[in-house]
Amino acid sequence: MKLAVIGSNMTDLTSYVNRMPRPGETLESTGFTVGRGGKGANQAIAAARCGAEILMLSCVGGDVFGEATIANFKANGIDVSHLKRIQALQSGTATIVVDTNGQNCIVIHKGANNALLPEDVDAAEEALKTCSMILLQLEIPLDTVRRAVEVGHRNGVPVLLNPAPAKAELDMETVCACDFFVPNETELSLLSGRKTDTRQEIEAAAMELIRRGLSHVIVTMGARGALWMTQEGAKYVEAHMVKAVDTTGAGDAFIGCFAAHYVRGGNVLDAMRAGCDFAALSVMRRGAQASYPTQEEVEAFLAEHV
Ligand code: RIB
Repeated sequence: MKLAVIGSNMTDLTSYVNRMPRPGETLESTGFTVGRGGKGANQAIAAARCGAEILMLSCVGGDVFGEATIANFKANGIDVSHLKRIQALQSGTATIVVDTNGQNCIVIHKGANNALLPEDVDAAEEALKTCSMILLQLEIPLDTVRRAVEVGHRNGVPVLLNPAPAKAELDMETVCACDFFVPNETELSLLSGRKTDTRQEIEAAAMELIRRGLSHVIVTMGARGALWMTQEGAKYVEAHMVKAVDTTGAGDAFIGCFAAHYVRGGNVLDAMRAGCDFAALSVMRRGAQASYPTQEEVEAFLAEHV
């Protein structure tokens, strides 16, 4: 079972602080890490950790960050035959601040990620046809995302769209052409135009998207677990109660793990449970990809917590 991830890669420059800085303030950090991130790359690595074969379409620059990104994909057994490198560009970076509750603020510089174009998707169409699912996010140009949705549709390959980071320009036509739409509460609110603070509001907003033509909406709700909405109604998977030290990349952990399990077993709720387990472990450690557990670690955690 091969998954295609068409998306971003970033180098995460993370400072850990006792509290978030105020505008104009200089704060001293309690720690700093340089790690591999980017929503696309995170989802690819998470899925690979869960046993999926991955085809990665992404674009890096000519700098050392690009080199490290390629080396990381290779070290994780990811197919980089459709990876693009443009020497004149900077690779994507994310400047991240994480507080003692594990919450983060992120500023991304997309760099070479902006140069992943619709024609790159066309060039990979033969390879994409052989995949069991295509995973998309919004850290690459929207036209590239739209082309990937078209290619998936044309070839009968299911498409999962994670609308992150939230973008007002995302159109309902693109959204409705996807098989799985996986927002968090904020992204769901932006697209549905509704409030999403309570479970009732989240259900109503997800149902609104189902009414507009989507088949599956899965809302990731952090410590509150995940909701699956279809025409039949809502189903919930609860999250494990754990002490979060860094939530960066937890949504990506859920999605990559969900996709790997779904294409293997075909059961949405089982795949969501696996995604919640995997994401719970990821928030207990620092970093995005650096926090993703091995299968042995997941099994040990479940033996203790279930
Ligand atoms: O979703 C988390 C990711 O968002 C980080 O790894 C960072 O790179 C940003 O893209």
